[in-house]
Amino acid sequence: MDLLGYIDSKREDHLNELKELLRIPSVSAQAQHKSDIEKAARWIAEKLRAAGLQKVAITPTKIHPLVYGESLEAPGKPTVLLYGHYDVQPAEPLELWTSPAFEPAVRNGNLYGRGTADDKGQVHIHLKALESLRNTSGKLPVNVKVMIEGEEEVGSVSLWDFVQQNRERLKADALVVSDTAMLAKGVPSITYGLRGLNYYELEITGPAQDLHSGVFGGAVPNPITILAETIAKLHDDNFRVAVPGFYDNVAKLSREERKALSSLPWKEKEFRRMVGAPDLCGEKGFTIGERLWVRPTLELNGIWGGYTGEGAKTVIPSTAHAKISTRLVPNQDPARIAKLVEKQIRKLLPKTVKHKFEVLSTGKPWVASYSHPIFQKAIHALETGFGKKAVFIREGGSIPFVTQMHDTFKVPCVLLGFGLPDENAHAPDEHISLENYFGGIKSVAVFYEQLATL
Ligand code: BES
Ligand code: MN
Ligand code: MN
Repeated sequence: MDLLGYIDSKREDHLNELKELLRIPSVSAQAQHKSDIEKAARWIAEKLRAAGLQKVAITPTKIHPLVYGESLEAPGKPTVLLYGHYDVQPAEPLELWTSPAFEPAVRNGNLYGRGTADDKGQVHIHLKALESLRNTSGKLPVNVKVMIEGEEEVGSVSLWDFVQQNRERLKADALVVSDTAMLAKGVPSITYGLRGLNYYELEITGPAQDLHSGVFGGAVPNPITILAETIAKLHDDNFRVAVPGFYDNVAKLSREERKALSSLPWKEKEFRRMVGAPDLCGEKGFTIGERLWVRPTLELNGIWGGYTGEGAKTVIPSTAHAKISTRLVPNQDPARIAKLVEKQIRKLLPKTVKHKFEVLSTGKPWVASYSHPIFQKAIHALETGFGKKAVFIREGGSIPFVTQMHDTFKVPCVLLGFGLPDENAHAPDEHISLENYFGGIKSVAVFYEQLATL
């Protein structure tokens, strides 16, 4: 049977198999899911074997195991390194899911469940594309090395050590990743840029212990007030990040790139609908697209302290906390930015409080040229799966590994995203469009096939 016909004939099987993986709650951030993580790793290993990969191994790491397999049976043909992750974000708040997070369900042409889009569904697209190639032609058309990690959602803690220790083994002509989204439904997209990410935690301490706010209030520092004031000063009135030096090395958008980005079929109305806020805001002087993809940001991810329970409790808390992140763009240096942010916070804080500033993780931005002939193969493959010509986009999210690979191995990185911007990644009711899932399997299978002629 021909490749595309075979893939069509397996739709039901593929979907049912993906549901099996989605039922395993492989949440990397929560210790109680340790055995689920291991189960998911074993599941991936089994499917790699089914796709014809050899030397399949589950390697333990500092936190969660990494699954590796390879098929090197196409002498003289290119070698592709495929990367993805089988771990998922926590499903909480559970009550906001229409159907349970780990009981996959199909509604309105979408498959719902934690990990459907980020990233189990997209990993599965590749597994089934490889298996289909193998089952229709007896072997894989190119050499493939597959690395699926279980720590992506907690910052890929061990990944880079693994890469360093296996440098020779992981050598490839291209890196392929499906862990991003399309610009919009029906618009197949290839991502050539991602923002970097630094994550920080700030703790402010005033009084040595919580105090009665009547007995002490008025004469002592309140850490929550001070935290709020400090945070409010991290942006100016034009929504620029008010950290001296923050924009020093930010690359200017070239005229050509600005033109290319502004001609993308992107709809502001659709974006506003997805956001659902009364109005939008952002850095003055830039379009929404530029704010999302080519400008750096500073965001508050969480802020807490004091009494947040039921009813009233009069208290001046001893501490207040904030989780802060910065999204970075070329040519900002994550280490330098971390220092600048801390310096500014230290400068803003009054002498009445102590503070602890922790850098939880750093990650470099990535932008690359897409002139390598492999991108023509990708365009052709996506056209087969989706009937439309692909566009080249940047994205605001972060995959630190892509930058590391690009810097170290200097290979083209092909990011074929099959998610959608409103697929609720990291949120309740995460889903993947079945059209993208099935179209993805076809596209990826044709892509690997095409790479044999690169
Ligand atoms: N798949 C996402 C990255 C992503 C999302 C890229 C949207 C492009 C568009 C990945 O799983 C993720 O969530 N990354 C985190 C950072 C990571 C270090 C925890 C992110 O971007 O916040
Ligand atoms: Mn992901
Ligand atoms: Mn994610």
